[in-house]
Amino acid sequence: MSLAEYAAAEVRLGDRGYQIYVGAGLSGRLGEILAASKPEATGCVVVTSEPIGRLYGEAVADSLGGLSPRTLVVPDGEEAKEWENAGTLLGRFLDAGLDRNGVVVALGGGAVGDLAGFAASIYMRGVAVVQVPTTLLGMVDSSIGGKTAVNHVKGKNMIGCFHQPVAVVADPLLLRSLPIREVRSGLAEVVKHGVIADEALFRYVEENTKRLLELDQECMSHIIGRNAFIKTRYVEKDERDEKGVRAALNYGHTLGHAVEKLASPRLRHGEAVSIGMVYAADLAVRMGTMEPEEAQVQRRVLEGIGLPTKLPAALEADELIRYMRRDKKAEGGRITMVLPTGIGSPPTLRMVEESKLMEAMEAVT
Ligand SMILES: NC(=O)c1ccc[n+]([C@@H]2O[C@H](COP(=O)([O-])OP(=O)(O)OC[C@H]3O[C@@H](n4cnc5c(N)ncnc54)[C@H](O)[C@@H]3O)[C@@H](O)[C@H]2O)c1
Ligand SMILES: [Zn+2]
Repeated sequence: MSLAEYAAAEVRLGDRGYQIYVGAGLSGRLGEILAASKPEATGCVVVTSEPIGRLYGEAVADSLGGLSPRTLVVPDGEEAKEWENAGTLLGRFLDAGLDRNGVVVALGGGAVGDLAGFAASIYMRGVAVVQVPTTLLGMVDSSIGGKTAVNHVKGKNMIGCFHQPVAVVADPLLLRSLPIREVRSGLAEVVKHGVIADEALFRYVEENTKRLLELDQECMSHIIGRNAFIKTRYVEKDERDEKGVRAALNYGHTLGHAVEKLASPRLRHGEAVSIGMVYAADLAVRMGTMEPEEAQVQRRVLEGIGLPTKLPAALEADELIRYMRRDKKAEGGRITMVLPTGIGSPPTLRMVEESKLMEAMEAVT
C-alpha cells in the first residue's frame, strides 16, 4: 500500500504541519517516511531505551539504512526524563556528527519521546524529530502535539519546549510486546477522547473491548487513527496551550495527577486518570452537567477494560484535595474542574466548592 493510504490524520500548522501515519508494519518503512517528510535529511540518530531497543532497534535502524543511523540508548521509563540525561544525549548527537539537517527518531513510549523531542528542540537551535511511539499512550496522546519535556527534581515536566515532530508513525504491531497493564492504561486516554469529543469512538471501545485487549490489529489501527484525529484538532486550535482549548484534554487529570503522585505502590498514568474520570463524572452529575446514566456507562466501560475506578484504600480524600488545591492554584478553596456534559460532547470548566469536591469522593471510595 502506498504511504498516503496510512495517513490517518494531518496536523495543519502551516510549515510546522505533519502527517500521522498509522498502520501495521510501518516501523519498517521509516526510510520512506523520512524521505517524504524531511527530504533534505543528511543523517539520523535513533533514540531508544534498552528494552525497546532490544525488541525493535535493529529493524528500525535497518529501515533507515540510507541515512546510516546511530542508535543512542537512554534510561528506560520515567528515568529517561531526568534533566541530566538531556545534556548527555546532546553530547551524543554531537559525537554522532548530527548536523542541522539531521533527524532524531524517537523510538519508545512517552518518556523516550519527551526526552528525545526536547533534546531535538534545542540541539543546534532545533532539528527535526520523528516520533515512533511504542506504547498505546504514546500513539494516542504523547507523540502528537509537540509538547516535549524533562523533569526537574522540583517538578515533573518543568523544563521543555513546544517542538512539533515532522512525522508521527504509529505501528500497532509494536504493541504486541507491551505489558497488558500498559495497554489498559493507554485505553484510559482513548475513553477520555471518546467522552470529551467522540461518542462513536466511545461506543466502539464499549463494543470492542475484548478485541482491543487482544490487540486485534484492525481495531487498534482504527482507534489509534481516530484518537490521532481528535488530538490533532485540539492541537491545531491551541498549538501552545494558551487559549484554554487544550484544557478539555485534562478531563480526569485533576484528581488523576494527585492519585498518580500520592498512591503507593504507584499507579500507571491511565489508571489514575480512570479514577479521575469517574470522580469528575460524578461531580458533573452533582452539578447537573451530565446525566447519571452517562456517568454509569463510562464507569462500566472503564471497568470492562480492567481499569481501576476506586481509589487505593490507603489514600485519604482530604490529602488528595489538598494536593489538587496546590496543583491547581485554587482560589478560596475552589478548584476549576473539567466536567463532562455527556458522552461525546465538549466538557465545561467549572469552579467547584470544596464541600462538593469532598462529597464526590464517595464515588471513588
Ligand atoms: N508530550 C506529551 O504531550 C505527553 C502527553 C502524555 C504523557 N506524556 C509523558 O509520557 C510519559 C509516559 O509515557 P508512557 O505511558 O508511554 O510510558 P513509558 O514511556 O514510561 O513506557 C512505559 C514502559 O513500557 C515499556 N515499553 C514501551 N514500549 C514497549 C513495547 N512496545 N513493548 C514492551 N515494552 C514497552 C517501556 O520500556 C517502559 O518500561 C510520561 O513521562 C508523561 O509525562 C507526555
Ligand atoms: Zn494523560
